[in-house]
Amino acid sequence: MKEALQIALDGPAGAGKSTIAKSLAKQLGYVYIDTGAIYRAVTYRALNEGINLEDGPALSKMIENMSIRLVPSDQGQRVFDGDEEVTDVIRSSEVTNNVSFVARQPEVRDALMDLQRDLAKHGGVVMDGRDIGTHVLPNADLKVFMTASVEERARRRHEENVSKGIPSDYEKLKEEIALRDKRDSEREVAPLRQAEDAHYLDTTTLSIDGVVLAIERLIEEVKA
Ligand code: CDP
Ligand code: CDP
Repeated sequence: MKEALQIALDGPAGAGKSTIAKSLAKQLGYVYIDTGAIYRAVTYRALNEGINLEDGPALSKMIENMSIRLVPSDQGQRVFDGDEEVTDVIRSSEVTNNVSFVARQPEVRDALMDLQRDLAKHGGVVMDGRDIGTHVLPNADLKVFMTASVEERARRRHEENVSKGIPSDYEKLKEEIALRDKRDSEREVAPLRQAEDAHYLDTTTLSIDGVVLAIERLIEEVKA
C-alpha cells in the first residue's frame, strides 16, 4: 500500500481547491501547500517596491532577495517573506487583481519552481494551484482538475466576503474572476490546463463534503 502521496489539485479561482485541500490534508495528516500564496507574496512585494509587474527579469532579481516560507499551522498555512508575515496582506483585492500579470512572466515561474518542488519532495502533501499536475509535480500520485461555473465560483466568493463582513459586489467579482481565469489560461508558460492524466471534477452542484468524498474515493484507489 502506497503512503505519503503527492496529491495535485488544480483549477480556476473559487473552484474550492484550498477548502478541499485543507480538509484532505487534515484527514490524511498531510501538509497543505497553497502555491498561489507564493505568487501572491511576490506580487505583494513587487507592488510595494514599485517594480513593473510585467518586467520578468526585474521580478526574478527581486525573488533572489526574497525568502518565501510556507509554514503549516492549526489555523492553516502561514506565509512569510523573510521575517515579515504576509499571510493576510497577500489576500487584498489589489494583489488578487494583479497576481496573474506577475504569474505569466516565464522568469517568475522559473524562479519559483524549485521552491515548490522542494516543499513536496517527501510526499504527504496536498498541493493546489494552476500548473501543479502539468508542470510542478508531473509525476504526482493523484491529480484532480476541479472547476465550477463562473457564476457559482463568484457566488461562493461573494458569500465568503459577506460572511466575513467584507464589502462585496457579485457582478464585479464575476468579471474579475473571469478576467483572471482568462489571463491564467491564455498565458504561454504553464497555463491553467487539465493534465492529461488528471481526474476532472465539476463541483458546481456539489457540497464541500461531496467533493471531499469524491476525492477520498480516488485516494483509496491510488493507495490500493
Ligand atoms: O485562491 P485563488 O483561486 O483566488 O487564487 P490563488 O490560488 O491564490 O492564485 C492566485 C494567482 O496565482 C492565480 O490567479 C495565478 O495567476 C497564480 N498562480 C499560478 O500561476 N500558478 C499556481 N500554481 C498558483 C497560482
Ligand atoms: O481555492 P479556490 O480559489 O479554488 O476556492 P476556495 O477558496 O477553496 O473556495 C471558495 C469558497 O467556496 C469558499 O468559501 C468555500 O467554502 C466555498 N465552497 C463551496 O461553497 N462549495 C464547494 N463545493 C467548494 C467551496
